[in-house]
Amino acid sequence: MNLDKVTTIDELRQIAHKRVPTMFYDYMESGSWTETTFRANCDDFKKISFRQRVAVDMANRSTKTTMLGEEVAMPLAIAPTGLTGMQHADGEILAARAATDFGIPFTLSTMSISSIEDVARHTQNPFWFQLYVMRDHDFAQQLIKRAKAAGCSALMLTLDLQILGQRHKDIKNGLTTPPKLTLKNILDMAIRPRWCMGMLGTPRRSFGNIVGHVEGVSDMTKLSSWVGEQFDLQLDWDDVARIKDWWGGKLIIKGILDPEDAQMAAKSGADALIVSNHGGRQLDGAESSIAMLPEISAAVGSDIEVWMDGGIRSGQDILKSVALGAHSTLTGRAFLYGLGAAGQAGVTKALEIMHKELDMSMALCGHRDILNVDRNILKNCPF
Ligand code: GLV
Repeated sequence: MNLDKVTTIDELRQIAHKRVPTMFYDYMESGSWTETTFRANCDDFKKISFRQRVAVDMANRSTKTTMLGEEVAMPLAIAPTGLTGMQHADGEILAARAATDFGIPFTLSTMSISSIEDVARHTQNPFWFQLYVMRDHDFAQQLIKRAKAAGCSALMLTLDLQILGQRHKDIKNGLTTPPKLTLKNILDMAIRPRWCMGMLGTPRRSFGNIVGHVEGVSDMTKLSSWVGEQFDLQLDWDDVARIKDWWGGKLIIKGILDPEDAQMAAKSGADALIVSNHGGRQLDGAESSIAMLPEISAAVGSDIEVWMDGGIRSGQDILKSVALGAHSTLTGRAFLYGLGAAGQAGVTKALEIMHKELDMSMALCGHRDILNVDRNILKNCPF
């Protein structure tokens, strides 16, 4: 498709809405319960305004920074998202390639459709692997070994999803992967021939990291049932220490929304923490990520790299996050909109849009280097 005239992330979302079957679009675009936190993640960014500065040299700008000591083209990484390969056939591989070409990191979810090994085989650069911890710690250990063998360069341990937040639409849509061939689903897919052709042309249609590796799940196709049956409800900071030992490499802790937990994360010896409420998909009624960022950043100082996700849909959101103390950010939905709209080219488009917004906004705030941006670029900020 011709993406030349697409200039906003929201246009990509609208195209994805037309192209991706309802059950998977809804899975991506939902928060839990009333979706208050899901909405707050975006709405709170709108409460922050910039200081416009003029007559400052804007030549030779740079949005480059580092994440875990590696240079990145801008302070953004691709967040781990479940069922990415259902937004578009081979979605994880395509998004990883787009991220590499752009010069930012890609994170593969435990809940991916393509397996760790499959993504490694079909991409050039090392990626990060996101871990959910199962009751069966042998399986978690196995996943860690597989990530190591595949050359993953960091492990991202998610701490905010031991139980799955209830997202009403997933229940009503009967979310499974692959979708059950009910009349409703067949009709819904039939009006999306491109998506169907893609899916018919790929073997990747179920949870690639799990199928063939885990026994005793009654319904492997259903996310909610296998999270319920398999995830470790007793996960605690001692487990975090054990996982850190098993992995032995760079560790990122995801799902921190409280300053005390942030201090625990820093004490654990992890290399980075992600201020996150899981995109508003877990504890509905929790604060937005951007609202909690300054407090968390102050609580840990320079003991650990502080990143954030939740509501990042534009380069301006990235800029505001950096101004409020985020060393870097991650985005899930913005890249998924691009993926659902147009595969790899759509992800690239999403990254280009965000980069341009970041670069131009930074310049108009009077800065040439993202590394010099701080709270001084903001005029009003309630957080
Ligand atoms: C999984 O990570 C989800 O939020 O559904």
